[in-house]
Formats: sequence, structure tokens, C-alpha cells
Amino acid sequence: MDIPFSRWHLVIEKRRSRRRFDPNLPIAPEVLTALDKVCNQFAPFPHARARLVTESAESVFKGIIGSLGKVKGAPAFIAFIGDMDDPLVQEEVGYTGEGIILEATALGLNTCWVGGFFRPEVAASLAKVGKKERVLAVTPVGYAQKSESWEEKLMTGFGRSHKRLALSKLVTGLPGEKWPDWVNVSLEAARLAPSAANRQPWGFDVQDDGITVFIRTKGLGFGISKRFDCGIAMLHLEVAAVDSGCKGEWEFLASPQVAKFKIRS
Ligand SMILES: Cc1cc2nc3c(=O)[nH]c(=O)nc-3n(C[C@H](O)[C@H](O)[C@H](O)COP(=O)(O)O)c2cc1C
Repeated sequence: MDIPFSRWHLVIEKRRSRRRFDPNLPIAPEVLTALDKVCNQFAPFPHARARLVTESAESVFKGIIGSLGKVKGAPAFIAFIGDMDDPLVQEEVGYTGEGIILEATALGLNTCWVGGFFRPEVAASLAKVGKKERVLAVTPVGYAQKSESWEEKLMTGFGRSHKRLALSKLVTGLPGEKWPDWVNVSLEAARLAPSAANRQPWGFDVQDDGITVFIRTKGLGFGISKRFDCGIAMLHLEVAAVDSGCKGEWEFLASPQVAKFKIRS
């Protein structure tokens, strides 16, 4: 499937993680069909895929302590699945999943990447994964409750978890005054990407012929690969670059680099 660059670029700023859903607002059949279609058709890598599941969503999520911090009330979830024999599985599933999250947002739905507080074996059984596959993350889908509950506010650190670092903390390479417009727009979009615990592990090295995404931070990863977060930022970067008229291709690189977006001349 071709990426709808402008449609996804438009919702990057709008997307926010939501964890409390209105159980009285079901997803209309035509919206579910559209979401199912993108889950099946947006598969840019052979070993990364997504599956929409419309049953037992509640059973997939778990709390931090008891039910505290648990995603609640969603009528459906999406499992983001990778073949673990693929060494690039983390960034590929992150990239693929974020496309689907942005399409869900464009369809008016709310989501929340969940890589820690879910039951992978329950998700795997509901999504019917293969022997070599694993569910690396899930998202609830549905309509969030109008206002954030006290528990949701607590979980987002009263809004702090939506904040992002300034580009000056994330970017190396060519100085800002030498950046063409597409670089500025793409880095802004990449900066807004969601990451596990909002850790923003990525850095961006700007060169004459493209931008390299690399792992900027040291330290532990909450059991979720930082390359997964970088895959999410790659999708944002590319969507904004192409929407600003700069086409390119990804070349995957060894750690601590992740991939370079090379502009097509
Ligand atoms: C790979 C990944 C895993 C995540 N896992 C969880 C999780 O287990 N539980 C949770 O409540 N939020 C989880 N989040 C959501 C992040 O906390 C959230 O994206 C981040 O704080 C930024 O906030 P925003 O999405 O509203 O912009 C995860 C996000 C990502 C990208």
C-alpha cells in the first residue's frame, strides 16, 4: 500500500496516548473495515505485520500494580507482530505499527502503544501468531473518554509524558542554518514520535544527502528495544519529508546507528 503522506503528516501533532475508553461508544462497522484494511495492507517489510482483534480486548491489558495503570474500556486492539528470526524486527515493527496508529488517528480513533503492560501470550493467541512470531506491542483502539480521569492524569505525570526534548538536544551534523526546509519539517515530525515511557532515545545526524537516525541515550530500556522507538520516529521523519517534497529511501545500519534516510537525487 502507498503511504498517504499528507493524511498521516496532518495527524502527527494530534495523536496522543489515551488509556481510558468509553465502553458505550462502539466503533462503526465502516471504520472497523477501514482499520482492518490498513492493518492487512500496510506491510512494508515481510517480517512485520499487524492484526486487528475485536474480541476480548480487556483481557490483553494489565495494570502496573493490580489494575492501576491498566488500559480500560477499549472495544478492540491491534497486535503488532514480528518474526523474531529477522534481525531488524524491532525497527520494522515500530515503523509499521506507527503507520497504522496514524491511520487510526486519521479515522478519529484513539490509541496507546503498549509494550510493557500487556499479556503477550493472550494477545498472541487472540491474534493467531505463527511459531517464529511474537507480539512485540499492542494498542487499544476505540473512543477515549471525553476528559482524562485522575488515574490517566497520574499516568501521564499530569501531561509531562506528552512533552518532548528540543531539537537542539537531539540533532548533530549540518548546522540548522544550512538545513533545507524538508529537514526542519521532518525533524519536527520525528521529534513528536511517541516512545516507551517518553524516553526519546533517538538522535538525528543531518548530512548533505540525508538524515541518519541513531540511538542517542545510554542505559536500560524497560525491556523494550530502543530500536523499536527509532522505527516509530523513522515513519514520522519519512512521512514529513515526502509530504514536503523530498523523496528518499531507508538504508538500515548497525547499532548504535539505526537507519539513514537517503534523499533520491
Ligand atoms: C514502544 C512503546 C511502548 C509503550 N508502552 C507503554 C505501556 O506499556 N504502558 C503505557 O501506559 N504506555 C506505553 N507507551 C506510551 C508512552 O508512554 C507514550 O507514548 C509517551 O509517554 C508519549 O506520550 P504521547 O504518546 O501521548 O505523545 C508506550 C509507547 C511506546 C512507543
